[in-house]
Amino acid sequence: MTNEFFFDADGELLIVAQHNKLRFRTEFGVIDIEPGEICVIPRGVIFKVEPIDGPARAYVCENYGGAFTLPNRGPIGANCLANPRDFLTPVAAYEDKEQTSSLFVKWGGELYRTEIARSPLDVVAWHGNYAPYKYDLRRFAPVGAILFDHPDPSIFTVMTSPSETPGTANVDFVIFPERWSVAENTFRPPWYHRNIMSEFMGLVYGVYDARPEGFLPGGISLHNCMLPHGPDASAFQHASSAELAPVKLEGSLAFMFETRFPQRITQFAAEHEARQDDYAEVWRGLRKHFNPERRGAKQLVG
Ligand SMILES: [Fe+2]
Repeated sequence: MTNEFFFDADGELLIVAQHNKLRFRTEFGVIDIEPGEICVIPRGVIFKVEPIDGPARAYVCENYGGAFTLPNRGPIGANCLANPRDFLTPVAAYEDKEQTSSLFVKWGGELYRTEIARSPLDVVAWHGNYAPYKYDLRRFAPVGAILFDHPDPSIFTVMTSPSETPGTANVDFVIFPERWSVAENTFRPPWYHRNIMSEFMGLVYGVYDARPEGFLPGGISLHNCMLPHGPDASAFQHASSAELAPVKLEGSLAFMFETRFPQRITQFAAEHEARQDDYAEVWRGLRKHFNPERRGAKQLVG
């Protein structure tokens, strides 16, 4: 994007760096991010993006709803999860260049282009609170189970675009960061479930504990509304037989864009050679373990 600039009039952009560094030159200044960091460009803000250290890859969420904000912490109180102090906005930086430039605009779901005679990044100074920002996901202070049982993954919400119905956000941005797993008498990977929210997951680096095979850094998984899912057969086997000592999940960062809206894949994605045709096979190895004779099992009827 040498002389090319862009703004999105339809929504704000949440960019999750996955491979190599990215530089965003915005009307408000310059933001650099690396894998482990995110950048948010508000709706309408003009920018261009450049790779810093070679070809780069990132995930992008286009949010049409209310702007991302921190979730209500409820009884957690004032601190932990993502803390406001760690969100960084750029200092002003401008380009005074009279050069033919292309300005691309996404508006109403369509892309437009116009030519202008200068760089649009000509804002010399700014103040206010509508600005792009970055956040280092490694600054996230996770909160979780410290005795038994399993909180909803929403406990790992970094930011949310809320809706009028609690529990069904326009979109939540959730991460699965490095953390200690210490719960007693508890199956530790995520549980098996169906839910209203559609779950788009990505893996920035490392191995995701619920899906150790077939889910590679840079890949995605998609579980739409009410589609059953949970740990694959190997993750179930490992978690069911492991000694329940404190375990630190290290060297891994997965995330989820969780939205109340169904997700449709593009034709490009549907036909891509990297698409996994046999994904459902990861659960085929699951076996029935129910035994009504074991202690604690009660017949419900009869
Ligand atoms: Fe899920």
